[in-house]
Amino acid sequence: MPVIAVDGPAASGKGTIARAMAGHYGLPHLDTGALYRAVAVAVRRNHIDPGDGEAAGRLAHALDLSLLEDPSLRSDAVAAIASQVSAHPPVRAALLAFQQRFAAQEGGAVLDGRDIGTVVAPQAEAKLFVTARPEVRAHRRYLELLASGQPVHESDVLADILARDQRDTSRVLSPLQPAHDAVLLDTSDFDIGAAIRRAIEMVDSRLKEARR
Ligand code: CDP
Repeated sequence: MPVIAVDGPAASGKGTIARAMAGHYGLPHLDTGALYRAVAVAVRRNHIDPGDGEAAGRLAHALDLSLLEDPSLRSDAVAAIASQVSAHPPVRAALLAFQQRFAAQEGGAVLDGRDIGTVVAPQAEAKLFVTARPEVRAHRRYLELLASGQPVHESDVLADILARDQRDTSRVLSPLQPAHDAVLLDTSDFDIGAAIRRAIEMVDSRLKEARR
């Protein structure tokens, strides 16, 4: 019943790796970034200032999970608001219990995000911290946004990613950083198949160690 934590910055490949891992080990998967994005959608719909932590926290507390299906969930505009609202302690507190319940289910789970190995599931048997160079991540996100019909300039995508990295790593509460016992996987020079194979090798060896 392992818990596998996959953390990393935007477009590092963590989501794809986490989904593949869930399929490989037969575990349920939670994309925790989607929860912060859903809060961002609610903030936008309710015309709330993303800087208002108390108001965003109230929306996070009563989060309408149907917002996970909102067509704007994966847009860059929503990602930018998610990165702002996720810095507020009331928002993080409101989403923490849900994530911890998911991690505690009997058969184990895979969670991906920014603070899974450090805060949500510090007890996880295997922790991966997935990174890639910012230019590589911007190019991947650019292709994804184009494929989903969102017209964007690659230089704007890079600027958004750098701004989000800066906000996510510098916030006081649960900043984006590798857990001390995480293994690092830089996917810059890997295609996604190779990154998944490498991630599974790393997790297999961690799970073997944990069983000893
Ligand atoms: O897919 P991408 O990496 O672009 O972003 P995401 O994982 O959907 O997360 C969107 C935003 O939510 C991030 O920029 C973080 O600010 C925030 N987030 C967080 O603070 N903690 C998490 N566990 C997951 C996401």
